[in-house]
Amino acid sequence: MNMSEFKHFLADDQLSKAQAFTLIELALNIKQSPKQYAQSLAGKSVAMIFEKPSLRTHVSFDMGIAKLGGHALYLGQQNGKLGERERVSDYAKNLSCYADAIVARVFENSAIEGLAEHASVPVINALCDKYHPCQALADFVTLAECFASQNITDLAKVKLAYVGDGNNVSNSLMLMAAVIGVDFTLVCPQAYGPSEEMLVKVQALASKNGSAFTYTSDINDIGTQDAIYTDTWVSMGNEGAEDKAQLLAAFKPYQVNHELMAKAKASVVMHCQPAHLEEEITTELFDDEELSVVFQEAENRMWAQCAVLVSLLTD
Ligand code: NVA
Repeated sequence: MNMSEFKHFLADDQLSKAQAFTLIELALNIKQSPKQYAQSLAGKSVAMIFEKPSLRTHVSFDMGIAKLGGHALYLGQQNGKLGERERVSDYAKNLSCYADAIVARVFENSAIEGLAEHASVPVINALCDKYHPCQALADFVTLAECFASQNITDLAKVKLAYVGDGNNVSNSLMLMAAVIGVDFTLVCPQAYGPSEEMLVKVQALASKNGSAFTYTSDINDIGTQDAIYTDTWVSMGNEGAEDKAQLLAAFKPYQVNHELMAKAKASVVMHCQPAHLEEEITTELFDDEELSVVFQEAENRMWAQCAVLVSLLTD
């Protein structure tokens, strides 16, 4: 597969189906034989900007880059929000003088797009308000391990549902599902669904790739699923935006628990973490070693991101 048109990793729908499969297979290969890739980023440096807190993203990029023989530099929030102390374009141009790639976790998607527009090196979106593409890629690597270990094309047969807040994680997940051709069900309370623009985009992609996309606010319409995914009901940057008691009441019927897993006949539960136990997921289900793949997903963040870096930075 020719990845020459893969210049940045900003949002999932920028990948073609073939590119998505190439990245997933590469991630699985690197995971299986990391030593073969130990020099892939030799002599290369990656600048990592974090406007928001991070555990998995920070550590998995740092450790992944080290495994590939490269150097990672963490740039915390000491310079404030991107665009405040210096223009986003100047950030991008300055970092391009030193780094071979820029990884950025930002509040606004416009900052990611600004970095990509003005940087002369690849930019990777490490989460913004609209997308979390590295997470979605890692999740499909995990789904491939769970359901397509014999034949990667079986991945397209998986049935995946996301239950909870329509946010950056669900946007990326449903876009990636539509790119790959995976049937996807989104269950969100009416007031917490994705934007109309996002729904139109997903529906169009799903139709193009021959998969079903179902959007409902009725949890009883969960249907039969292979995997159920959830994420926090309050994303970073939205804390305090609403009355907590009201929010918990609106989301209560959407808690992912053993009862919901049984109803959907699902064999896998997924969460990007950090989890708010007893809110979007029960502790019992999160810790259920038979059903929960949350730590497999966390590990696969590193291998998925290694695949992105190798694809962007090597010939
Ligand atoms: N939706 C969450 C994901 C955290 C990894 C957030 O944006 O805070």
